[in-house]
Amino acid sequence: EILHIETEKRLAAEAAAELVEEGMTVGLGTGSTVAYLLPALARRKLEISCVATSLATFDVAREMGLRVQPFTGIDHLDIAIDGADQVDPVGWLVKGGGGAHTREKIVAGASQRYVVIVSSNKLVDTLAVPIPLELLAFGIDATRCQLGDVRLTHAPISPDGGVLAGYFGPLGDPAKLACRLSATPGVVSHGLFPPTMVSDILVGHGNQVNWRH
Ligand code: A5P
Repeated sequence: EILHIETEKRLAAEAAAELVEEGMTVGLGTGSTVAYLLPALARRKLEISCVATSLATFDVAREMGLRVQPFTGIDHLDIAIDGADQVDPVGWLVKGGGGAHTREKIVAGASQRYVVIVSSNKLVDTLAVPIPLELLAFGIDATRCQLGDVRLTHAPISPDGGVLAGYFGPLGDPAKLACRLSATPGVVSHGLFPPTMVSDILVGHGNQVNWRH
């Protein structure tokens, strides 16, 4: 079962690596699926310029010979490729299991084409809590009180100094919850990514990759 999932992750990642072209600026996601993307991309030996959504990705990508730059002085990305924790039938994502969702969302928003790579076990009928959050430490108890059931994460500080937490309250319509989370002062960002942000979803399924546009 686990081997199966690893194969699915690898196949989705390798298919996504083929979408990258010479000269592109590329956003690199975070996580165990992206871990298969980095060597696949490095093997292509393209002249590309990358930004990373986490220090872990930054380090591994550099080690593999990819050119990774800080995300300043770059006004858009041609493509970004990242994993997800949950994908629903209309293309809503839950991300942030690895605590990197704030940077991941900035990279997603900046990219012309945003490609999601997942194994088939990430597909869900209905999204489930927790929804990862990054909160400002200032006034955090008041922010939590506004949001409802919010629990702090075991690894609590993001690379940008925010407090990582999870929303465990009722979910209902993801669009409504995303709006409410975004509109609450003290919330830096949340792990709900709307379908409008996503260009392609590549799902590893056994020995093949299914595409959703
Ligand atoms: C990191 O914060 C997350 O959003 C990851 O992108 C997501 O958890 C996918 O990770 P895996 O590929 O390890 O499942």
